[in-house]
Amino acid sequence: MENNPSQMLMGEHEIIKKSENIIQAMYKLWEKDPEKYKANVTRMLYFFKEYSDKFHHYKEEEVLFPEMRNHPDFVLDEIIDELEEHHVMFREYAKDIKRLIETNELEKAHETLNKYISNLLDHIAVEDDELFSMAESLFNADEFEKIYFKFKDIDRELGEKLKDELEKIPGELENSL
Ligand SMILES: [Fe+2]
Ligand SMILES: [Fe+2]
Repeated sequence: MENNPSQMLMGEHEIIKKSENIIQAMYKLWEKDPEKYKANVTRMLYFFKEYSDKFHHYKEEEVLFPEMRNHPDFVLDEIIDELEEHHVMFREYAKDIKRLIETNELEKAHETLNKYISNLLDHIAVEDDELFSMAESLFNADEFEKIYFKFKDIDRELGEKLKDELEKIPGELENSL
C-alpha cells in the first residue's frame, strides 16, 4: 500500500533503533575518553528530543492515538494509555541522563541510557507488532491514507530538511566510534 502511515512510523522506528548499537559501543568510553563520551551522549539526547520525540512521538500523540481512540470500534484504550505513559517516562529518562552528564556521573548516565533504550525498544515492539496491525484493521483505506497525510503535514510543519539531517545523526555517531 502506498501512503501507509504505519510503514512511515516503522521506518522512523528503524532509525531510532540504531541507537542501541551506539550505546553498546560506548560502553566504558567514559573511562577512555570522557569528553568524547559526553559529547556523543549530548548529541544522542539531541536526536532523541528532536527526532524521536518531536517528529515521531508527536505523530502518535497528536494523530494516531486520538484517531484510534475516537474510532467507535476501538475498545482497547488501555494500550494507548500505556504507550502515552511510556512517552512521558522517556522524557524523564532523557532529563535524568542530561543531568548526570552535567554532573559528570558518567557511569550512572550510561546505566540510565541502557534502561532508556531497553524500554524504548520494548515500546517500539508493541507498536510494530500490535498497535499498527490494530490500526490497519480498524480504519478503511481512505481513513488510513488520511492519517498518512496528517503525518506528512507534521513533517512539513517541523521541516523535512531538518528531518533528513536528524536521520543522519545515528550513522554519524556510529562512524565516530
Ligand atoms: Fe510511541
Ligand atoms: Fe513509535
